[in-house]
Amino acid sequence: MSNLFDMSNKTVVITGGSGLLGTAMTNGLASLGATVVVADIAEPKHTEAAHHFIACDASSTESIRHMLKEVYERFGRIDVLINGATYGAGYGAQGTVDKMSDEDWFRGVDGALGTTFRCTREVIPYMERQGGGSIVNFASMYGIVSPDPSIYGDSGANNPANYGAGKAGVLQFTRYCAAHYASKGIRVNSVSPGPFPTPAGQEKNPAFVSELNRKTMLKRVGKAEEIVGAVALLASDASSYMTGANISVDGGWTAW
Ligand SMILES: NC(=O)c1ccc[n+]([C@@H]2O[C@H](COP(=O)([O-])OP(=O)(O)OC[C@H]3O[C@@H](n4cnc5c(N)ncnc54)[C@H](O)[C@@H]3O)[C@@H](O)[C@H]2O)c1
Repeated sequence: MSNLFDMSNKTVVITGGSGLLGTAMTNGLASLGATVVVADIAEPKHTEAAHHFIACDASSTESIRHMLKEVYERFGRIDVLINGATYGAGYGAQGTVDKMSDEDWFRGVDGALGTTFRCTREVIPYMERQGGGSIVNFASMYGIVSPDPSIYGDSGANNPANYGAGKAGVLQFTRYCAAHYASKGIRVNSVSPGPFPTPAGQEKNPAFVSELNRKTMLKRVGKAEEIVGAVALLASDASSYMTGANISVDGGWTAW
């Protein structure tokens, strides 16, 4: 059992891999031996571990296809896809549902759900051909519960409706894909992070961070590296009997 989380024979693609949680996942999975490909519109800045970067715009099918083809040509397999990229929801906007345009609504839902759909669709043929794989989708606590408007005030960190609606869709899309690709050996699970504000964001708005701390059972926000355990479980063979599952990594936020 000592090698349960060993990933030394696995190629992992992380969309949004240059971000806060993506950087932690890159470092964490590389330390377990994985070949990690960061697929992002921005180059990684804070990644310590060896990794590969392939520019990818997850809003574009063509760009996703190009990235996956390059991964396959360079490494010969795609064992794990982590759908981490999310964009377009317009965080901080005070405008609630009654003020949201059709365009803004669509951009946010597509940036959470559409991108997960596109990357999943494009990776399935590779995984099918090699006899299986693991897909890990990033949902959110806000795909499970609503933001509590009373804690946001004028923090500028308001969380809009299109984000959570997209993330709730990610949870269902995860179950759908698990059901329909299990026969191909493809496992599909999700992770739902709770509050992981960036260090810069925490410094800028300590009063808001206190509100976030108070809302969790553990009385603190998450450190980026604390996402790694759940992701390593779902990405590795340690979770060989898990599919269609969601793991909340939220300090207890959604459990009360
Ligand atoms: N941080 C949190 O508190 C939190 C909470 C719940 C869920 N999540 C989810 O976890 C995941 C990672 O979050 P994070 O905090 O690391 O986000 P982040 O904003 O730090 O990183 C997002 C990354 O996605 C990249 N990106 C943006 N548009 C892209 C595109 N079109 N194509 C490819 N890459 C693109 C950005 O360059 C960035 O590197 C997201 O799905 C997010 O919704 C985060």
